[in-house]
Amino acid sequence: MAKNNSRTIVVAGNWKMYKTIDEALQFMDQLIPLVADTRAKVYVAVPFTAIHPTAAKAKGTSISVGAQNMNDASEGAFTGEIAALMLKEAGAHFVLLGHSERRQIFKESDAFINRKVKRALAEGIQPVVCVGETLEEREANRTEEVLARQLRESLEGISSAEFSQLVLAYEPVWAIGTGRTATPAQAQEAHAFCRRCITELWNPEVADSLSILYGGSVKPDNAKKLMEQEDIDGVLVGGASLDAHAFASIVKAQPTS
Ligand code: PGA
Repeated sequence: MAKNNSRTIVVAGNWKMYKTIDEALQFMDQLIPLVADTRAKVYVAVPFTAIHPTAAKAKGTSISVGAQNMNDASEGAFTGEIAALMLKEAGAHFVLLGHSERRQIFKESDAFINRKVKRALAEGIQPVVCVGETLEEREANRTEEVLARQLRESLEGISSAEFSQLVLAYEPVWAIGTGRTATPAQAQEAHAFCRRCITELWNPEVADSLSILYGGSVKPDNAKKLMEQEDIDGVLVGGASLDAHAFASIVKAQPTS
């Protein structure tokens, strides 16, 4: 089947716990001219403290600034947490939800992620929902079972109409920060599986128009082959997104047709 070129292509950077405000602004000064004429949407998920100044700098450019996490409550006595409305006010356009580091290190469950997805949609912040299997799960041939569960539970109750506000990211945990990328064929297989799950759980129209990004050791030299795959609509980049030139060459690696 030919690739559905009407899907939005997104190249997203995830800075994790890197970059002060100063460093973030320097990065933006470098990145803005490098990606000025891109067809892809360029996203950067920055530390909370950098959202406001970075979003101000990105105003009027093709770059959208977002957050890496949020709480599911609208407000309340949750020391150390941050609400969707606060992120939005600071200038965040999107939020990463269910990143594997949140799932693994901070023990976030699919049910919690689901509540956050609903909160983000209700407050008008685009959720970028991450799913992916661990090495142990892949080696036990449980990849599909894990992906199906994560999709079903983290997206439970999301309406077909709300899907147009949402982006999905497939990030195999064994490929994150390890330098061990999934091959384009492995990634394509998992993306096609996610799209089939969405078809079954919702409908073919929702599945066909959903942008699904690949993440896990994406670098300037492997991004193009990944993004050429039929079901891969962009990438979510950790380490290589910290350098404006490396990130810009990933943005430019998108297929031309
Ligand atoms: P990586 O991280 O590109 O450094 O593997 C990807 C991610 O965690 O989103």
